[in-house]
Amino acid sequence: MRRQYSAAGLAEHELAHDPMAQFGRWFAEAEAAGIHEPNAMVLSTADADGRPSARTVLLKGFDGRGFVFYTNYGSRKGGELAANPHAALLFPWHPIARQVIVTGSVERVGRDETAGYFRTRPHGSQLGAWASEQSRVIASRQVLEQRYAELADRYPEGEGVPVPPFWGGFRLHPEAMEFWQGRQNRLHDRLRYRADPASPTGWTVERLCP
Ligand SMILES: Cc1cc2nc3c(=O)[nH]c(=O)nc-3n(C[C@H](O)[C@H](O)[C@H](O)COP(=O)(O)O)c2cc1C
Repeated sequence: MRRQYSAAGLAEHELAHDPMAQFGRWFAEAEAAGIHEPNAMVLSTADADGRPSARTVLLKGFDGRGFVFYTNYGSRKGGELAANPHAALLFPWHPIARQVIVTGSVERVGRDETAGYFRTRPHGSQLGAWASEQSRVIASRQVLEQRYAELADRYPEGEGVPVPPFWGGFRLHPEAMEFWQGRQNRLHDRLRYRADPASPTGWTVERLCP
């Protein structure tokens, strides 16, 4: 599979005009190739002093407005994004020798959109979002399970769980998107879209050395 994609490569003429459309094509191909959780992406953030941090989150939607993920706003990433909205996403699709790297800035998604998504989550995940003060130090696993048990008593299955005010979505608006296709002899293809108001499509495509 890797060999098949590597042999085919990625050429300028076959790129979609819009990077989101190109991402949609590659995402569908990653799914079709049977990649486990193709929506798992590495989110990199940096604090106000420029110190970086990274972790995996799940992509829950993408369209012309950007890439959406959900998290705890009080977490490390939540705090860093509040202080510095610049972030990067990396999709590591190793079995097909591809990666996509997106850079841009984030904003919180609206509360209605967050609530709509929260309601689609399983009851246990809804309680888990309340139970966990994500990224804080906790004395023991027992304390966490105790919190969960109290919440499960308060909101039994079937009872509506309110959306935690400290939990919700971020949308990353891309400023650049790089599509990387592994090729032979390290001569990989790297095509990067850069937002360009002067271009009729709104984007300029550049080839980068591998
Ligand atoms: C496959 C995978 C998917 C994950 N998805 C999410 C997610 O969608 N949202 C989230 O907040 N954390 C998710 N996590 C946990 C994060 O990687 C991380 O541990 C957590 O968000 C705390 O990160 P922080 O302390 O840097 O804020 C996921 C972890 C893995 C391994």
